[in-house]
Amino acid sequence: MLEYYSSILKNLKQNSHFRYIKNFGGKDEKYIYINDKKLINLSSNNYLGFADNKQITEDFLEFAGDNYSFGSASARLLTGTLPVYKELETVISNLFNKDGCLLFNSGYHANVGINSCIAGRGDVIFSDKLNHASIIDGMRLSESKFFRYPHNDMQALEKLLFRERKNFNNAVIVSESVFSMDGDIADIKKLVELKEKYNCMLILDEAHAFGVFGQNGLGVSESLGLIDKIDLIIGTFGKAIGSMGAFATGNNILIDYLTNKARSFIFSTALPPINIAFSKWIIENKLPHTFTKRQKMLELGQKAGSQSHIIPLIIGGNKETSDMCEILYNNGYFTLPIRPPTVPEGTSRIRISLTTDINEKELFDAISLVKQKK
Ligand SMILES: Cc1ncc(COP(=O)(O)O)c(C=O)c1O
Repeated sequence: MLEYYSSILKNLKQNSHFRYIKNFGGKDEKYIYINDKKLINLSSNNYLGFADNKQITEDFLEFAGDNYSFGSASARLLTGTLPVYKELETVISNLFNKDGCLLFNSGYHANVGINSCIAGRGDVIFSDKLNHASIIDGMRLSESKFFRYPHNDMQALEKLLFRERKNFNNAVIVSESVFSMDGDIADIKKLVELKEKYNCMLILDEAHAFGVFGQNGLGVSESLGLIDKIDLIIGTFGKAIGSMGAFATGNNILIDYLTNKARSFIFSTALPPINIAFSKWIIENKLPHTFTKRQKMLELGQKAGSQSHIIPLIIGGNKETSDMCEILYNNGYFTLPIRPPTVPEGTSRIRISLTTDINEKELFDAISLVKQKK
């Protein structure tokens, strides 16, 4: 058996697909330390700088004292729950003005759990072709049929709905808001229109937009004034919030259903109370003061040709992309090659993700390096 794995690994190496965990010396603000080198980190989801910030950590620990432990020791439905979990759920559902909210251990847990149970036999899910792996994995576990429509192609989605909707009982449309690898934004207004016209439920994954878009940082659905039109909104705490975990917010019936049916929620030990308290503390005390810097970051992303703070620099081949990261590394920038299966074959890329600390010169110097060498 080991020989079999070994041959697969050899193949991955030959095709520049091999993944390994790098050794970092540390991270702070916009920097990452590798082999005694201080590099500007252009590959972080720590969009607002809340993770790794010593002052934030110190302030939080002073607030938290010894009130929160480092282990929940059980799933929420058993003994792994305390008031702070419900408090965070209430904070989220109040912000979104929804009936209820359910915490998950990560965005991956949320999407796998939700998409595997939200539709059953005789039902159907329509999913954007570029939706995150966790959504795909969830649908694969589901007993429902699913279709993947061409990325952000609303005409193709409508054609599919017109052809297929009548063949199923319940139907769900699922999309990311800011697409994680392309940085473009779903046509949420049209998704809402289609879900109403074809009697579907709409799930929106705001993983990369929660904490970044909208007056209160709730996501693209907030900036478009469409929160109340979306049945279930997913957000993560592991990115802009600088913590860990995720939530789903929506109608109470849906939240009760997920509490009873989402296996990734039911069968996994809950996140530590200290972590839940940190997410809540950031959302209540820090996020409300970030509007100006979030806007500046988004404007910078737009200046670089993206619709968001995520800027894909598409190179094409795997090896060329890894080589380009090496060039950037030698010039003081940390970036990561994004290769298939994360992105479609032939579209390997450097995915720049901005944080509010990165300035215009740093960004455009890195982009021109890539353009020069391409
Ligand atoms: C769109 C999207 N949803 C969900 C996730 C998973 O979130 P988490 O990292 O909290 O598991 C990611 C992670 O990159 C993502 O890009």
